[in-house]
Amino acid sequence: MNTTAEQAYENILVAVDGPVATVTLNRPKALNALNAALMGELADALRRLDADEAIRCIVITGNERAFAAGADIKEMAEASAVEMLQRNNLAHFDAVRKISKPLIAAVSGFALGGGCELAMACDMIVASETARFGQPEINIGVMPGAGGTQRLTRALGKARAMELVLTGEYMGAEEALAHGLVNRVVPQELYLEEAQKLARKIAGQAPVAVRLAKDAVLKAQDLTIEEGLDYERRLFYLLFATEDQKEGMAAFIEKRTPAWKGR
Ligand code: CAA
Repeated sequence: MNTTAEQAYENILVAVDGPVATVTLNRPKALNALNAALMGELADALRRLDADEAIRCIVITGNERAFAAGADIKEMAEASAVEMLQRNNLAHFDAVRKISKPLIAAVSGFALGGGCELAMACDMIVASETARFGQPEINIGVMPGAGGTQRLTRALGKARAMELVLTGEYMGAEEALAHGLVNRVVPQELYLEEAQKLARKIAGQAPVAVRLAKDAVLKAQDLTIEEGLDYERRLFYLLFATEDQKEGMAAFIEKRTPAWKGR
């Protein structure tokens, strides 16, 4: 397997800067519409980065005009239901969901349909003040298919999510922030830099603790409070099997910076 940095893709760019990788969706003429080739490359790159021990946090971004304007309408316009089922392009979104390292979406401009769903599949979102989120599938006779009805509803509550999904209207960055859908809203010229800054901060933490903590936070959306608390406690105890737990606590007591080993 090539290292991630060496891998060449046609629809995405991968740049590695120390422990932070940035994956840029790169079909600007089509507003980064998520065709099968792009999604396949994205899933492949994310899996490689996830397997690369040197990488600790991953930023996914587009360009200033568009994070992504959705699944590629031209690619699916003539497809039958059976063809859609057999192609199963949306399965690539499962790959995103299964990445164990933190994923940060750096969003500017349109994050629509599958683009909004991709951003929501990430763990955090840093938004430019120009970011616009929406699930406009209803305008083209369909509905969200990659998590929009589920993730938007969890973030916004039923009423507002229902309105966006049924009208196809967009939501601005400030509203997304007010609902907790995004972590922060920054001027357009800073959205990528801010996302990478956040990524570097997380990349400086103990990797195994980051991995298990991400897992536990995601589980909070699926489990009952009782199950979630039990799950969390098991992971907490498990971290005492890591060298980094000993190092982190010793460093605190000795008033020095910990040197993480990632094990
Ligand atoms: N699929 C394919 N091509 C797309 C696209 C998409 N989702 N979004 C934009 N493009 C293409 C346009 O066709 C156009 O290509 P040409 O120059 O070859 O005509 C190019 O990108 C630029 O787009 P516009 O000229 O439309 O730019 P605009 O500034 O006038 O409008 C927009 C921008 C409002 C985002 C508009 O492009 C738009 O409405 N796009 C579609 C949004 C949408 O419906 N997304 C949902 C897709 S379905 C889905 O995602 C299902 C799912 O849940 C997975």
